[in-house]
Amino acid sequence: YPKVFIFDLDGVITDTAELHYLAWKKLAEGINISFDKQFNERLKGISRMESLELILQLDTSLLKLDNEQKVKLANKKNEYYLELAETINKEDVLPGVEDLLKHIKKQNIKIALGSASENAKNVVKKLGLSSYFDYIVDASKVKKGKPDPETFIIAADYFGIPYKECIGIEDAAAGIEAINKANMFSVGVGSVENLSQANYLVEDTSKLNFEEIIKKYSDKNS
Ligand code: BG6
Ligand code: MG
Repeated sequence: YPKVFIFDLDGVITDTAELHYLAWKKLAEGINISFDKQFNERLKGISRMESLELILQLDTSLLKLDNEQKVKLANKKNEYYLELAETINKEDVLPGVEDLLKHIKKQNIKIALGSASENAKNVVKKLGLSSYFDYIVDASKVKKGKPDPETFIIAADYFGIPYKECIGIEDAAAGIEAINKANMFSVGVGSVENLSQANYLVEDTSKLNFEEIIKKYSDKNS
């Protein structure tokens, strides 16, 4: 068995990936930028400021904004996000997720969160899942965000567990890349177009099954 499971939050545990998308879209529209879902894939998993930079690159006239103006925009996006996230509750846990968490706990395997979000702790709390997590890595702990492996390394090092014995679960290409770079087993939730690098891929969270993940993990490590 693996010794640690590291879960991404947004888009894996709950559908806040959609709320981040809607909040960025609203912000972008306010500065006359539009982008589609395909472009949004590039925003998944990366920090708030890095996301903003990518959006601003869509309109070269905005690249001259100074840092203060950028921070204002980023704060505004977060206000939009918090409005949308206000009503998050237990029912917003995606299908299959709590069941998987229970299975992992039952085997005495450690569970960590590996999120790029400053709002991660709060969202987990609203979902009523805090007690499952032995350790939380959020934006405040990470210097180099995904696709750098640091997020996942910090979690494994906290428990003192070899990276080979860790499993990461992600919905973002940047997240899968981070897990792979950490030499951990990567589970992707989403489409093969976006997550072709995942060691094991399921199309949505309802397909996350403890035994199946363990089987794929063991096959790879044997
Ligand atoms: C990641 C999301 O988990 O967190 C990104 O996938 C988001 O979409 C990032 O931009 C940062 O979140 P926050 O809450 O700190 O703005
Ligand atoms: Mg995600």
